[in-house]
Amino acid sequence: MDTPSFEPPSYSLSHICQNKNVPFVKPIDKMSRYAPAIAQTMNDTLLIVGASGGLGAELLEAALADENVDKIHATSTRPVSSTHERVRWHQLDYREPATVSRLGEALAESAARLDGLIVATGILAAEDLQPEKNIAQLARHAAEESYDINAVGPLLVFQSCAKLLRAAPTPKALFLSAQVGSVEDNQLGGWYSYRMAKAALNMGIKCAAIEAGRWRNPATVVAVHPGTTRTALSRPFIQRRKAPVRSAADSAGRIYTLLAGLTATETGHFFTADGAMLPW
Ligand SMILES: NC(=O)c1ccc[n+]([C@@H]2O[C@H](COP(=O)([O-])OP(=O)(O)OC[C@H]3O[C@@H](n4cnc5c(N)ncnc54)[C@H](OP(=O)(O)O)[C@@H]3O)[C@@H](O)[C@H]2O)c1
Repeated sequence: MDTPSFEPPSYSLSHICQNKNVPFVKPIDKMSRYAPAIAQTMNDTLLIVGASGGLGAELLEAALADENVDKIHATSTRPVSSTHERVRWHQLDYREPATVSRLGEALAESAARLDGLIVATGILAAEDLQPEKNIAQLARHAAEESYDINAVGPLLVFQSCAKLLRAAPTPKALFLSAQVGSVEDNQLGGWYSYRMAKAALNMGIKCAAIEAGRWRNPATVVAVHPGTTRTALSRPFIQRRKAPVRSAADSAGRIYTLLAGLTATETGHFFTADGAMLPW
């Protein structure tokens, strides 16, 4: 049974994703936004999972503008032919586990190490999955789909490229999560599948950060909430939003700058795109 009193008056991404603790940061121009380098050498290799998405595509642009990044491996669920000599595309769909292992094999064949991993995949809604307004709308198949794609898939990618990350001098892994995955920050409820899946992702990231902190070259592993951003994922939920929504280029620029500036002491934390810390 629906319980209307439980629903917030305006149940939109704006209510849920906006981080009120973060001061407004003046937009910066594209060159300075993308100027920071992810690592120290001139021949770094980076993997961007979900480089076909709204944020992923702009993160790919940011990496292309980073002259220290020599080679970028990018994934999409669909086949993409590369239009740039520094980019190699791979087809990867978490719903087809063989594509995850194939990605690991392809990387091992062509790269000696992986300096950076960015996971920019995720789903909020799909054909049989809509963000739930109340417990009555929770459905097993939808929750499982969200869990598979939002939580398990990203960690299996980390697993498949851990060996290459270990070979880098200062490896970094950044996973796009969502503030709604924070248990402590949850004031509104709802969106069961997405919230539960992102909370599970967050726990996976925390475990990975602890484990990778014990590597000979410890990795910096973080979760990042991008902030409400105009993409295919958010579009249905921001139509009536009054507060400004960032463009994907703006959010990606901030995320790339954050990644570039990360140090080992910041591993195992959950950040906004502007570098403010969020509670897990
Ligand atoms: N936009 C926002 O306001 C917002 C707010 C909070 C958090 N986030 C998070 O930010 C991340 C990026 O979101 P976005 O806004 O850029 O969304 P998007 O434009 O919809 O992009 C989603 C990406 O995920 C990939 N993907 C979807 N299903 C997949 C699967 N089964 N296997 C592998 N890849 C799959 C898509 O690949 P294809 O293109 O091949 O389908 C696409 O590259 C997500 O984790 C999202 O939860 C976004």
